[in-house]
Amino acid sequence: MKQPILLAIDTSCDDTAAAVTQGTVVLSNVIASQTELHKPYGGVFPTVAKQAHRENIALCIQKALQKAGVLPSQIEAVAVTQGPGLAPSLEVGIHYGQEFATTHQIPVYALNHLEGHLFSVLAEPNRRITVPNREIKVQFPAIGLIVSGGNTLFVKVEDLQSFTVLGSTLDDAAGECLDKIGRMLNLGYPAGPVIEQFARLGNPQRFPFPLPLTTVKSFDLSFSGLKTFARNKLETLEKNGSLDTQTIYDLCAAAQSGVFRHITYKLEKLLPNQNISELWLGGGVAANSTLRRELRKLLRRVYPNKKVPLRVPYTKRLCMDNAAMIGVAAYANSKNRVHRTQIDRVPRQTL
Ligand code: KG4
Repeated sequence: MKQPILLAIDTSCDDTAAAVTQGTVVLSNVIASQTELHKPYGGVFPTVAKQAHRENIALCIQKALQKAGVLPSQIEAVAVTQGPGLAPSLEVGIHYGQEFATTHQIPVYALNHLEGHLFSVLAEPNRRITVPNREIKVQFPAIGLIVSGGNTLFVKVEDLQSFTVLGSTLDDAAGECLDKIGRMLNLGYPAGPVIEQFARLGNPQRFPFPLPLTTVKSFDLSFSGLKTFARNKLETLEKNGSLDTQTIYDLCAAAQSGVFRHITYKLEKLLPNQNISELWLGGGVAANSTLRRELRKLLRRVYPNKKVPLRVPYTKRLCMDNAAMIGVAAYANSKNRVHRTQIDRVPRQTL
């Protein structure tokens, strides 16, 4: 049986995204970024985001269909993000998704953005051959690590339908922490990619960041202390007049290392009790090469006698907010999908 062709939409935050997917194959993945619009605010300004989504969404959908070489009448279902995210932003995608589904008399499914990041690792590029009619090849169980600007969590994935959150951040997300430290250093928004570049030129050992929650047994995370440590360090350096370029590189290297050390420390406590076959990594921060390297090292350390691969999205574009991951998630976990005539936004949705 051929897999259905889906139109997927994600407007959870500041990127307007539309994609066409078939099974796990990404036929197109269009993203209209609002990064430049929000730069002056140092973060995402919700009403500005909503207006930009409204201006971009129709064209994004049109481009996604064109790039996929698919007519609107060939779309068999719509998958749209209902949460978590900014309520005004989510509203735009839901509205357009429902409208498209009503016009073409097809079902519309409400998707969780976090499920999208989780299943982004299953996405496959379009190799322009007949779409493979085959099972998703994954070894279960897996642990999913979602690290983005809005969320950081560990998820146990038993199979495509069952997952449980084992721990999550109690305050800021990992990407948010990097963005806030970047803002203190005037690195622009989002700062994660710049911090990654600057960190390559710096010495992480010069400013050893504290390791949070070491006395707490849970697998929850907390990044706010790292942010405070960076602020205090920066104030001292500014007072002493010693904030030169090399010091900024060193601070970036130390901050990045502090954030990743906290994640890997908790993961190292979590993994030995989990006989997993794969580690999945999704979300914006998953684009970071140092994090990937650290996680691969960790897997070799924890499982010296078996190969546990780190599964990452096939392109870094799928780490950032995008709609292709929403289409793939809708297919991967299709047993749990029910058509909804009315979809509500769920800004604080959890997995
Ligand atoms: O997944 P995403 O686009 O948005 C959410 O769903 O939250 O993630 C955006 C986050 C931002 O915090 C950004 O700074 C971070 O991902 N990010 C990175 C890198 N690329 C993006 N952080 C570290 N290294 C990177 N290369």
